[in-house]
Amino acid sequence: MELEQAIYSRRAVRQYAEEAPGERTLRKLIDAAIQAPSAINEQPWSFTVVTDRDLLERISVKTKSYLRRSAPGRFIPESLHARLEDPQFDILHHAPALIVIASVTHSRWAVENCALAAENLMLAACAEGLGSCWIGLAQTWLTTAAARKTLGLPADHLPVAPIIVGRPVASPAAVPRKEPRIRWIGP
Ligand SMILES: Cc1cc2nc3c(=O)[nH]c(=O)nc-3n(C[C@H](O)[C@H](O)[C@H](O)COP(=O)(O)O)c2cc1C
Repeated sequence: MELEQAIYSRRAVRQYAEEAPGERTLRKLIDAAIQAPSAINEQPWSFTVVTDRDLLERISVKTKSYLRRSAPGRFIPESLHARLEDPQFDILHHAPALIVIASVTHSRWAVENCALAAENLMLAACAEGLGSCWIGLAQTWLTTAAARKTLGLPADHLPVAPIIVGRPVASPAAVPRKEPRIRWIGP
């Protein structure tokens, strides 16, 4: 797939087939992720790949419970409050794989580095015919001691980008883009 096609056809996918992509495919996505640029070429990312069904479900349950307890009004839109109470709502959209991209250094550019790796990974997934979605709702729970223990994440790793991946069972419609605000400064 051409780069332009991947950029324009990538969507946030929220419906997945049960079977997880194989290790070879997941490694290919991670290889694309690490081609991203990084500040002072630190390449500070780590990738935690979860395909264990029970663990994926536990992550969703624990995240929802954490969000319900920790003043969701602060950063969770009103429309989501009811969904957090719904036992059927899976925060990971029943995806068969979750890749948590974390920074192994607490550098000034930890978030930028991991976000660039995440976009590469999502575009590579699209090129492989896979769907993906960044699960921002899982980010705060992932930084807790309980989550670190659950995932075996070392204390100095900063989780930045939880990305779900899998074979899509539906192709979501494109979300319209707003006109970019462009200010031209030139002769
Ligand atoms: C930082 C970030 C956090 C996001 N968090 C969530 C999330 O928690 N759950 C979800 O379903 N989608 C999440 N998304 C996906 C966005 O909702 C989606 O990218 C946006 O609606 C545009 O749709 P598109 O990706 O198909 O173009 C997130 C995207 C980003 C970049």
